[in-house]
Amino acid sequence: MNLLEVQDVTMRFGGLIAVNDLSLNIGKGQILGLIGPNGAGKSTAFNCVAGLYNPTAGKIIFDGEDVTGQKPWDLCKKGLARTFQIVKPFASMTVLDNVTVGAFAITDRRDLARKKAMEVLELLDMADKRNALPGALTIADRKRLEIARALATDPKLLLLDEVMAGLRPTEVDDVIEIIRKLRDRGMTIFVIEHIMRAIMALSDEIVVIHFGKKICRGKPEQVAQDENVIKAYLGENYGTA
Ligand SMILES: Nc1ncnc2c1ncn2[C@@H]1O[C@H](COP(=O)(O)OP(=O)(O)OP(=O)(O)O)[C@@H](O)[C@H]1O
Ligand SMILES: [Mg+2]
Repeated sequence: MNLLEVQDVTMRFGGLIAVNDLSLNIGKGQILGLIGPNGAGKSTAFNCVAGLYNPTAGKIIFDGEDVTGQKPWDLCKKGLARTFQIVKPFASMTVLDNVTVGAFAITDRRDLARKKAMEVLELLDMADKRNALPGALTIADRKRLEIARALATDPKLLLLDEVMAGLRPTEVDDVIEIIRKLRDRGMTIFVIEHIMRAIMALSDEIVVIHFGKKICRGKPEQVAQDENVIKAYLGENYGTA
């Protein structure tokens, strides 16, 4: 059973086709990786799925329902949450308040929202930073806060857009652990990442896009050996370095 189906989705910005007739699906409980060169259309594809953009053509089916054109807030209530490549916390609110805002997607009760937010912060090992302002956090913690805000909405499908960018290797390892933990709890995860080691270790399957078009889908080891993927993205020296 697929939790997400992207069917022939195209997104144009004026004359630019950012996503070109893209189709893919994610089974429940799966981790699907999305990779491709800068400007390939990865974030735009996420924006179409998460309702920020209404695709020029094609359909988004989430949990059996055609949700094409629905707004992010409504999709969020249905269980679809995302992080942003450029993190955007509320700067004047504490970490806990930032995460609590996310939890208001699933409850109107302040006490329950707080409780959910604390649970998520504990899961991410950030409870001790609950009273900090986002500006005082390290990059790694700011990325974690971004994940926490999405998790507070209790998603069935979590979209992660480069949550490991700019992190040190050990911090990357921590995020890999977190993502695995979420999957073990039954969450389905769609992840964009340039750090190949992470995407290879995490993904059940990987989709590669180039100029908005899917050029490959397969298991990590298949994708790493695909000639088109090597040419378009990985480079001839991938794997030998
Ligand atoms: N709102 C927009 N208006 C116009 N063009 C846009 C818009 N958003 C993205 N684009 C263009 O669409 C193309 C795909 O961009 P996108 O951000 O989806 O790429 P990406 O694969 O996420 O790249 P990166 O790896 O650098 O994050 C780029 O050419 C970009 O300039
Ligand atoms: Mg992007």
